[in-house]
Amino acid sequence: MAHHHRRRGWELSAREVTPEPLFLDRRRFLAAMGLGVLTAAGLASGAEAASLATFKQTFEGLKALKAARNPRFAVAQAPTPEHIPAQYNNFYEFSTDKDDVWELAAALPTDPWRVEVAGLVARPRTFDVDELLRNMALEERIYRFRCVEAWAMVVPWVGFPFKALLDRVQPLSGAKYVRFTTFMEPKVAPRQRPQRWFPVSEPWPYTEGLTMAEAMSELALLTFGSYGHILPKQHGAPIRLIVPWKYGYKNIKSIVKIELTDRQPATFWNTLAPDEYGFESNVDPAVPHPRWSQAFERDIGTRERRPTLYLNGYEAQVGQLYRKA
Ligand code: MTE
Repeated sequence: MAHHHRRRGWELSAREVTPEPLFLDRRRFLAAMGLGVLTAAGLASGAEAASLATFKQTFEGLKALKAARNPRFAVAQAPTPEHIPAQYNNFYEFSTDKDDVWELAAALPTDPWRVEVAGLVARPRTFDVDELLRNMALEERIYRFRCVEAWAMVVPWVGFPFKALLDRVQPLSGAKYVRFTTFMEPKVAPRQRPQRWFPVSEPWPYTEGLTMAEAMSELALLTFGSYGHILPKQHGAPIRLIVPWKYGYKNIKSIVKIELTDRQPATFWNTLAPDEYGFESNVDPAVPHPRWSQAFERDIGTRERRPTLYLNGYEAQVGQLYRKA
């Protein structure tokens, strides 16, 4: 399923943004399969048009999920036109190619879906996503989103503050961190199968973490929808964390488990490439990635290049969490 990679001029190359071992292994894999040339040359435009038609169908079928917009989270820019982020995804369970994800993720069954909340809580329990959608107060928030790869977008998400879920399970005083886990479904997620041509073993399932103080912040949003409908699968349906002051990889998709712990949890990218991806991972123009600057970002909708903002512009909301006393 090699697609013509519609690489835009401003993108960092895969070599630049992929952790080095993964990138090298992918090249080796393509060479071994004799696919390198095909991938580079792309497919005929007929196939491209068919793929675009499929994309539109996937999209039109999404159930509406409307909620009143919370005006406290307005952003200067207009939301990114939704077909752009919907075809430009990082979801490594499915592919390392951003423009393949929407098609591959369609295979993920997301209804019904349950999420287990466990660990250091007084009332551990498993929630049905449908129940959460019925009983929690949903709102729409327009947030900036900044990937560690230096691209950015603006998205209207629908969800509720993560803190409201914590209130339902009553954290114990020993809880210091929250650990999030994505599904493990090697049958539908090809990159969760043993990768014969990728000698680097990836720590599936994908995991992420926050401190309790971060998890309690009003900005941390448990997200079920975007652009007025349920999340498309490529954006992490049916339940995803959005923490807009942190790099994109902290915004874990398709969550099945949430655990409160007394120790800092291991996370996917930190385990894979600890020199490149820390635990905290706050957006900060002054702290370069070891292989590129973070001083500027590129908007995937407008293509505008603009300076990166400290905490992605959310210093008023979360700056106090990181200020030294
Ligand atoms: N969550 C899971 N489960 N798997 C992933 O590969 N990629 C992360 C994050 N959440 C990822 C994930 C990264 S690197 C980014 S930039 C964002 O999802 C991309 O989100 P988007 O595709 O909705 O724009």
